[in-house]
Amino acid sequence: MATVAERIELLHNNLAHVEAMGGEKKVEKQHAKGKLTARERLALLFDEGSFVEVNALVKSRCYNFGQEKKDLPGEGVVTGYGTVDGRLVFAFAQDFTVEGGSLGEMHAAKIVHVNELALKVGAPCVGLNDSGGARIQEAVDALSGYGKIFWCNTIASGVIPQISAIMGPSAGGAVYSPALTDFIYMVKGTSQMFLTGPAVVESVTGEKITAEALGGAMTHNRTSGVAQFAAENDEDCIKQIRYLLSFLPSNNMEDAPIVETGDDPTRTDASLDTIMPENSNAPYDMYDVIKSIVDNGEYYDVAKEWAKNIITCFCRMDGQTVGIIANQPNFMAGCLDYNASDKGARFIRFCDCFNIPVLNIVDVPGFLPGKQQEYAGVIRHGAKMLFAYCEATVPKITLILRKAYGGSYIAMCSREQGADQVFAWPTAEIAVMGPAGAANIIFKKDPQKEQRTQEYVDEFATPYKAAERGYVDAVIDPRNSRPVVINALKMLASKHEVHPAKKHGNIPL
Ligand code: HXC
Repeated sequence: MATVAERIELLHNNLAHVEAMGGEKKVEKQHAKGKLTARERLALLFDEGSFVEVNALVKSRCYNFGQEKKDLPGEGVVTGYGTVDGRLVFAFAQDFTVEGGSLGEMHAAKIVHVNELALKVGAPCVGLNDSGGARIQEAVDALSGYGKIFWCNTIASGVIPQISAIMGPSAGGAVYSPALTDFIYMVKGTSQMFLTGPAVVESVTGEKITAEALGGAMTHNRTSGVAQFAAENDEDCIKQIRYLLSFLPSNNMEDAPIVETGDDPTRTDASLDTIMPENSNAPYDMYDVIKSIVDNGEYYDVAKEWAKNIITCFCRMDGQTVGIIANQPNFMAGCLDYNASDKGARFIRFCDCFNIPVLNIVDVPGFLPGKQQEYAGVIRHGAKMLFAYCEATVPKITLILRKAYGGSYIAMCSREQGADQVFAWPTAEIAVMGPAGAANIIFKKDPQKEQRTQEYVDEFATPYKAAERGYVDAVIDPRNSRPVVINALKMLASKHEVHPAKKHGNIPL
């Protein structure tokens, strides 16, 4: 019979064994690939010394292929909770040094447990993914594990922020848990996401492609839009996740934390009076406007590299988190297309889930015309923007800088989509369509077509027709944009809007 001291020693030995992960050689291999281990990643994510591990002693109960003889410390995943900037956060980190971080029944059970705890207490859950996918030896039990994680992700969606980082391979069904969460980070050079890897692609389609080109960080940040953030390395990735969390509330019943930024809410900026080019078709950089009006010029782009014709970013105004959706005249003239619509709609819905007011900064010539757009379903995608704005009950403020034509005027949150306050610069052009298009239709046969077109510009491509009808609350000096928006945010702070009860809407997907 072991003594009490021996039993305590056994506990320490068992925990030390788990803490050593897959052993020195495997850890060296992980480092050689430029990757940190699961425990190093968690140590960076959480405030120093705050991480509390749960389920460290969980073991696989698989007997297939002699698996029971294998030693899999921690079941290939480290789970627990701690604080980030003093606020409670849950996390799991898959441990590639143990059986390639592959996911078996008990590995999945550990992830599900922290997810459920996070949901019950109302705290964000961060997943650090680095895994060879379903543990092949565990067969359908591994699939069941994934299925349970997908269920948890879905039930928690809109209740707690869920953030995924891809920090190694993520193949097959393993991509779907991240895809069900709110945001995906990828690390450049060391992470890949795909449903089927390069070997399968080649055998099925004959196409030769590298893993990086097929599913690397920039593929998903730039081309597919699957990931919203790219990081230089593991350290940068985790630093960015901490930064993102600073903008977010812990759950859907809370407001985002107010941060003392030291920027004067009444600050005006004369440079905005001259930012608009005299030629209304000339581009300018919307980021200059954003930097001018937000606290300390600081913002965090979401999906920066994808659908650059629309900007979605978090910022603070008088210390309060705000989500900005803005057209970018510098890219594709800021028009809306199917990707921009998806990007905008998803961001609006995130903000609405988590009580983050939205500021819509408008300079949009229209939806991009053409066969490619129509064939890709731009109607279906554009409808997502309309749907997302109409259903959002957070404060909605629209600031129209220049073009706001036709359907895209409405799709960027006009009064009818529930904009609580609409402001326009004197340079705003709010009309059913652009002057050239309008002239080609209504002045087609008019011998004085040019003069008529100019009349159309002078009379209709202004903010005043809209202001006369009350669709615009105020036409403002550009320099006053920051204080005007902050005043509106303050006025709307207690906004409470309830739509008719229903199971859920049917957003056009
Ligand atoms: C069991 C696995 C594993 C897996 C890796 N390992 N993936 N064990 N099941 N899925 C083990 C390896 O056998 C090896 O064990 C260790 O992890 C490290 O793997 P290596 O291959 O040595 O590492 P590396 O060369 O870096 O290659 C990493 C890899 C490769 C690209 C991820 O391991 C790989 O292709 N794995 C299989 C990926 C895959 O097809 N997964 C199944 C997807 S099906 P030892 O003992 O040598 O250390 C799927 C369906 C889910 O996920 C559907 C849910 C809905």
